[in-house]
Amino acid sequence: MANVAVIGAQWGDEGKGKIVDWLAERADMVVRFQGGHNAGHTLVVGENVYKLSLLPSGIVRGTPSVIGNGVVLDPWALKAEIERLAEQGVHASPETLRVADNCPLILPIHRDLDGLREDASGAGKIGTTRRGIGPAYEDKVGRRAIRVCDLAHLDDLGSQLDRLCAHHDALRAGFGEPPVDRERLLADLREIAAFVLPFAKPVWRDLNEARTGGKRILFEGAQGVLLDIDHGTYPFVTSSNTIAGAAAGGSGLGPSGVGFVLGIAKAYTTRVGSGPFPTELEDETGQRLGERGHEFGTVTGRKRRCGWFDSVLVRQSAAVGGITGIALTKIDVLDGFDEVKICVGYKLGDETLDYYPTHAADQAKVVPVYETMEGWQESTAGARSWADLPAQAIKYIRRIEELIRCPVALVSTSPEREDTILVRDPFAD
Ligand code: IMP
Repeated sequence: MANVAVIGAQWGDEGKGKIVDWLAERADMVVRFQGGHNAGHTLVVGENVYKLSLLPSGIVRGTPSVIGNGVVLDPWALKAEIERLAEQGVHASPETLRVADNCPLILPIHRDLDGLREDASGAGKIGTTRRGIGPAYEDKVGRRAIRVCDLAHLDDLGSQLDRLCAHHDALRAGFGEPPVDRERLLADLREIAAFVLPFAKPVWRDLNEARTGGKRILFEGAQGVLLDIDHGTYPFVTSSNTIAGAAAGGSGLGPSGVGFVLGIAKAYTTRVGSGPFPTELEDETGQRLGERGHEFGTVTGRKRRCGWFDSVLVRQSAAVGGITGIALTKIDVLDGFDEVKICVGYKLGDETLDYYPTHAADQAKVVPVYETMEGWQESTAGARSWADLPAQAIKYIRRIEELIRCPVALVSTSPEREDTILVRDPFAD
């Protein structure tokens, strides 16, 4: 099976963009299967930096790209991103980009609701990207969503729109907001429909055809396993399944079509938004990691919280995420530390745990148990083979591999795609 799924093994922002770009060059098709424009993938190609939120990374190199039904699609964000890329000389056309016609839409009312809830939540804030992701998924499972295919039938929306608006009007009233302006919503949809519809297709057909034809499909996950709606740090999670299993349901290809699952993990840990983070460092070391790693969100510009590598969490991600091999990124950020620490377990009261407990209160209470290793003073930035790495850095990577019980398939040593140590080629499996 020559297909590959790339997923984040931590709380997102693991550096998936570079790895996906590297794999996308050799793929015949790149598919997004969950999330929406809450994602932020940065691709560095030569002198150019591309920032993608909704579009699959294949688009930059002209690889046919698909937005699957598991994604929630803001059609205005799609248009803006396509236009922004066009200014950088990258042109998405219906030949290179296909959008699943059963994809639910993110509407302005979803963005409104996301913001209203966050503003009203005080300390219980999730810290969402405020892009309407959660409310759009709620309407999808509530069977009220307007989908891409509906854009071709706007005059027939009738009772579907009534149900959607009745639901939102009640919620909006609770926040003292006026009811949904239906005429405006319909007019906006009418306007954007002309832009979106040329891209709309039953993409499951293309995918199944590609698979039968022996093509290589790359599934591009967004966020990370610890933000998964089921397996993440609930309720401080996103509203979709971010595990590799979601690639099947979110695209229309069966589970046997997913193939090698490459989990991306940073050599330390970051998190943006609220929620528990056992190895978080709110001291100079955390600050140093943030500065060296340029840890600011691609989408919201928020400062990311930083901490040591947590092998308990990544081991758990590898298990529930179905990860075959890990890509370890940003090892160079750890250069110059006298010592580096890895979390190898937790203390919860008198108990020692080798897994992350499920309840939010326990998740917030656990105290990490660390193993300390000698650091390295040499630079690992730009290393392209094991021979370029200092012995201590190799020891650190090997120890991580052992603790997470999953092999390291590649190591990334800078944002440049060539600065990669390849141990096992996911496409060759
Ligand atoms: P939402 O996906 O906008 O609903 O946000 C829910 C949580 O997921 C928040 O903590 C966000 O910061 C986090 N989140 C969503 N997308 C990303 C991402 O691409 N990288 C990192 N965190 C994300």
